[in-house]
Amino acid sequence: MTSNIAHFNGELAPLDRISISPLDRGFIFGDGVYEVIPVYEGAMLRGREHFERLQRSMDEIRLANPHSVDEWLAITQQLLAHHPGNQSVYIQVTRGAPPKRDHVMPKDLKPTVFMMVQPLASPPREAIENGVACITHEDFRWTKCHIKSTSLLGNVLARQLSADVGATETILLRDGLVTEASSSNVFVVKDAVVAAPPQDNLILLGITYDLVTRLAAEGAVRLEIRPITEAELRSADEVWLTSSTKEVLAVTTLDGKPVGSGKPGPVFRRMHALYQEHKARLRKSRPVTA
Ligand SMILES: Cc1ncc(COP(=O)(O)O)c(C=O)c1O
Repeated sequence: MTSNIAHFNGELAPLDRISISPLDRGFIFGDGVYEVIPVYEGAMLRGREHFERLQRSMDEIRLANPHSVDEWLAITQQLLAHHPGNQSVYIQVTRGAPPKRDHVMPKDLKPTVFMMVQPLASPPREAIENGVACITHEDFRWTKCHIKSTSLLGNVLARQLSADVGATETILLRDGLVTEASSSNVFVVKDAVVAAPPQDNLILLGITYDLVTRLAAEGAVRLEIRPITEAELRSADEVWLTSSTKEVLAVTTLDGKPVGSGKPGPVFRRMHALYQEHKARLRKSRPVTA
């Protein structure tokens, strides 16, 4: 078996040879940020946007970025040279490993950079054609969900609630409004108009969310960004999940009840087609040497 090459602090090494200090603040405090970028046949989908979001997350946690966006893109291409095909790249930057445990942010600590590549499992045909089941739950996470932080305990606990009942996601509600799901954004459709929750501190501004809003504009699909009530979620014609690995998926049951007709709806099918066309254009535009 060929070894799985990863990146650690500027060096490429087999994943199973990398070791990280137990004092690393990523391990001790979850004091770090991350990104996940989908890659199709060597071409990153919205790589620049992912590294721009990484910069915003680092700014929010007062962590100096060791690389410019262009450097990050180049480092990722080097790593991808070892991983042909469809992949997802995971990038994590923590505040580093100080000599002792202390909540206060140490000055001049070198951040820890870790990147690995895993095969990208796009949603199975069954999920695209029939949709997926979701449950709802109160959003019990913190109020800085716009930071793509490695402190994911709230998201892990939320996701497990749906996993426990064999559902794909847990859609979260805060004060009667839809925020997002444990690792995806949420859209609803009523009378052919799509709605997405506002881009505030209560959701992660998904790179896919942003792409879907752009594809809607290009494809003449009506889309509004505004608060979505629980009642609107429960009476929607269609509900969608979006993320870099889920792409766009239709939710066809919510808390065991059918959403709309109980089948992926026409607006979903249109957006799914726009998304696949966008991916196909990415592959065509990819320079042969990239
Ligand atoms: C909480 C949360 N919201 C939304 C998303 C979707 O973000 P993206 O489209 O950038 O993958 C994710 C992705 O992991 C997430 O963890």
